[in-house]
Amino acid sequence: MANFLTSSIGKKFIQGISGAFLVIFMLLHATINFFSVIDSLKGTYGADDGLFKMGCDFMALPIVTMMVPVLALGFIVHICYGCFLTWQNIRARGGYNRYEVASKAAADSWSAKNMLVLGIVILGILFFHLTHFWAKMQLAEFTGGEAENPYLLLNLTFGNIWVTLIYIVWFIAVFLHLGHGFWSMFQTVGWSNSIWMKRTKVIGLIVAAIIVLMFISVACNAYLQANGLIG
Ligand code: HEM
Repeated sequence: MANFLTSSIGKKFIQGISGAFLVIFMLLHATINFFSVIDSLKGTYGADDGLFKMGCDFMALPIVTMMVPVLALGFIVHICYGCFLTWQNIRARGGYNRYEVASKAAADSWSAKNMLVLGIVILGILFFHLTHFWAKMQLAEFTGGEAENPYLLLNLTFGNIWVTLIYIVWFIAVFLHLGHGFWSMFQTVGWSNSIWMKRTKVIGLIVAAIIVLMFISVACNAYLQANGLIG
């Protein structure tokens, strides 16, 4: 077992499993956020019985809150192994951008070469994001205060065009990172013959696109709501 975890396939496996767990979180997170767009269409944006508000209340249940340390651990494992794998690749290739060797499939993808850079952008903006929502909701509750109204936070955050644009850059980085990561995970578990290589690439891009399009629509909808451009 110890051998497996330190072997190169074992490390990629851990990277893939922690990544898969984060993808499930992203799907759930994007879906609950997307409720705010449905609220807009139904005229319940900002209402106490709005779908998005209900989704946030669900996320605040103790059974879900208990998962927060697990989620944080998932991020930490994924980041640590990601850095480690990249460092090993650099050592093996003798430089960051030396991808001329071995896998042609990995070599011709921009995302594959830039997973570390994309990861750093995602992590950096994640901290910015946590100050907008998590700090004012879950952290406020943990520290004995009350969670702020989630629609108000949407409007405060995305009401500013520059913040919205930074978020959109973030979502594009998430798309590129997920699009490659998903495929890479299947390659690690061995589904990489020529038929499945194409299929998992397409499935990965579709899943990444669904997640990111939901996030983008949430940000744009909140921008329009905050600036009184839709009712
Ligand atoms: C339109 C885009 C997004 C919106 C409106 C949004 C909204 C929120 C909200 C309301 C919370 C606080 C939940 C609570 O404390 O009860 C939160 C937390 C969080 N968000 Fe996002 N989010 C977005 C995109 C993302 C993305 C792209 C990621 C990951 C790359 C992400 C990662 C997290 C994490 C890790 C937390 C803390 C854990 C949690 O409270 O569930 N979010 N977000």
